Amino acid sequence: MKLSRPGNPAERYSAGNMAEFSQKKTVARRDEHAPDRIVSGAPLDDDARLDASVRPKTLAEYIGQKRVKENIAIAIEAARSRGEALDHVLLYGPPGLGKTTLAQIIANELGVVIKTSAGPLLERKGDLTAILTSMEKKEVFFLDEIHRLQPAVEEVLYPAMEDFRVDLVIGQGPGARIHPFHLSQFTLIGATTRAGLITAPLRSRFGIVHRLDFYEPEDLLIILCRSAKILNIQMDEAGAQEIAGRCRGTPRVANRLLRRARDFAEVRAAGRITREVAQESLRMLGVDEHGLDEVDRNLMIALLDKYAGGPVGVGTLAAALSEEEDAIEEIYEPYLMQIGMLDRTPRGRVATPRAYEYFGRELPKRQPRLF
Ligand code: ADE
Repeated sequence: MKLSRPGNPAERYSAGNMAEFSQKKTVARRDEHAPDRIVSGAPLDDDARLDASVRPKTLAEYIGQKRVKENIAIAIEAARSRGEALDHVLLYGPPGLGKTTLAQIIANELGVVIKTSAGPLLERKGDLTAILTSMEKKEVFFLDEIHRLQPAVEEVLYPAMEDFRVDLVIGQGPGARIHPFHLSQFTLIGATTRAGLITAPLRSRFGIVHRLDFYEPEDLLIILCRSAKILNIQMDEAGAQEIAGRCRGTPRVANRLLRRARDFAEVRAAGRITREVAQESLRMLGVDEHGLDEVDRNLMIALLDKYAGGPVGVGTLAAALSEEEDAIEEIYEPYLMQIGMLDRTPRGRVATPRAYEYFGRELPKRQPRLF
């Protein structure tokens, strides 16, 4: 079975945060004309193509995530020298930090084929079985959004990961028999933005588990300069610093803002991204000094003004903003928490003193009880 999947939905965010999310949710789909293939149908747009062209191909080119990179480099070298498949890998963290890129790099460093699918694409057990039985020794199977697997489909993974076996059911009714089918030793790389939704039996079958963190501005500066060089974009260091400080610690956002700043520089300036050019293009995009966009600001203002700083449930916030609950939890909140504006508590979301200060609101005398 041939898998055709140009890129990956989670790696194709391109416009605003929300546009990124809805693209992620809808792009992965089953091609009705080729029911035996698990495909994503949408062609790559210009931004996605440019994104792919700047994506690092080796661990040496991959910037940041030092601890993750070092551990993965050792595991790859050890597996290679033993001539075995790499242990199964689980990568988790907010979108845009490079989980898919890292999976492609791992396959590249191992010198093997990578086959790719995503949790929502695998509707039936047979969809997953078809992929697993096609895996050759040491090949990599990248399963994005692994937290969105149907429970029955997930169960197929357990013996496949542990014993390299799938149990095929032959026949129907009382005469049905289970036939174990032995798989080649492959590596599963699972990726998720929601580690908390991974079931314990699935998580325990991964030998290598890493969380990707938001990037430091210094790393983003290097990533931006590298991308600008590859894409032949003229940019000075002050321009790069301006973007690096406002891209939510996320390389995918950094590269998107770089492309928008280039557009602005070409149309309204002399074609070079300087600090002023970057500032003006970011202002036009509604991205503030902290990298907050309109949805982030609306979320914080609703929390501060409508719900008196919280605690308020995520469902209520989502309804107030007409956003999807998943988008709030996966995209907006992680960064707002990272910069210390919002806390998740057992009683709901609360605004921090920093948020009151940033949005010019007076801190209430009696702080809401956090726990
Ligand atoms: N482009 C996107 N993510 C990157 C990374 N971590 N290193 C280098 N280039 C990147």
